[in-house]
Amino acid sequence: MKTLIDKLRRQTFLTKEEYVTLIDHRTPALADYLFEQSREVRHHYYGHDVYVRGLIEFTNYCKNDCRYCGIRCGNHQVQRYRLTEDEILSCCDNGYALGFRTFVLQGGEDPYFTEERIVSLIRRIKQGYPDCALTLSIGEKTRDEYQAYFNAGADRYLLRHETANDAHYRYLHPPTLSSANRKRCLRDLKAIGFQTGCGFMVGSPGQTTECLAEDMLFVKELQPQMVGIGPFIAQHDTPFRDQPNGTMELTLFMLGLLRLTLPKVLLPSTTALGTIHPLGREKGILAGANVVMPNLSPVSVRDKYLLYDNKICTGDEAAECRNCLSLRMKSIGYTVVVSRGDYPADTPERNETT
Ligand code: 5AD
Ligand code: FES
Repeated sequence: MKTLIDKLRRQTFLTKEEYVTLIDHRTPALADYLFEQSREVRHHYYGHDVYVRGLIEFTNYCKNDCRYCGIRCGNHQVQRYRLTEDEILSCCDNGYALGFRTFVLQGGEDPYFTEERIVSLIRRIKQGYPDCALTLSIGEKTRDEYQAYFNAGADRYLLRHETANDAHYRYLHPPTLSSANRKRCLRDLKAIGFQTGCGFMVGSPGQTTECLAEDMLFVKELQPQMVGIGPFIAQHDTPFRDQPNGTMELTLFMLGLLRLTLPKVLLPSTTALGTIHPLGREKGILAGANVVMPNLSPVSVRDKYLLYDNKICTGDEAAECRNCLSLRMKSIGYTVVVSRGDYPADTPERNETT
């Protein structure tokens, strides 16, 4: 198995069968070997820096009914909220003072936020914080809408593909959504010029090793600048309430594989990973991740954006999370930096042999 990891590091891809073999035959010792490799690659491009993105969860209205998600439209237990433009700007203000230079506007697919309203938001944020990167994470739109957001100044877009496998996608989603359209969105985003992030849940109901291998092949083909992954965590008001959670162990292994497959990729150590294990985010960084995404949303709405159960940090002010994360990263020898944290487009690809 070690030779497969060596091969992955050398050539930065494997066949589907090879990914399946590696994932199915993983052991704690093999994982340690993988993480040594993935950390080395990470250090080559990013040293011990950790980038932060300030996440602003600005609406929990959603027209979709994804079976895993706590804010699905079919969940009537949720208290719905929308932040006003001024409230969002004040989150940015707070974040800027704390050293954030990337803001991520994330929300459900909320029809209230029309193209016009989003464009107005983008303009105001880019005007107020010209040295910051602005990331959108607001779901599936038409190519024209994406183009309008890009023209208004948005820099990046996150849209997890959730699973690259068609049948698995159908199992996780309502019939109104398709894997094909999700992939179309991602290709449009890249073509327009967004720094694009895709990603998937680890251990989602119905996921097989083959699905994970297909995720790796999809990611290799798309060449996104960012890949967000985290364990599936059951939410008690969804159809998947009784399904087992994904594991930290498999999530870390996938992070290691992603680092070797896309050496320069921006790889977050996610809140979901921190939710299933108290040291999940630290371990994610040690497996090759290089980004953390603390919450900048007002504490008053934090407990209403619950995609899954037991989400951490719902009672903490942005400043507390910022300090907490700095200390956590310091405790493992890494440093949170004040930077936009762009994808290192001009760094030559690592030429592996020695
Ligand atoms: N467990 C883990 N991750 C989830 N997401 C949504 N619901 C869950 C859940 N129950 C993830 C999806 C989505 C991102 C914003 O959060 O991958 O794209
Ligand atoms: Fe939020 Fe630790 S990151 S309290």
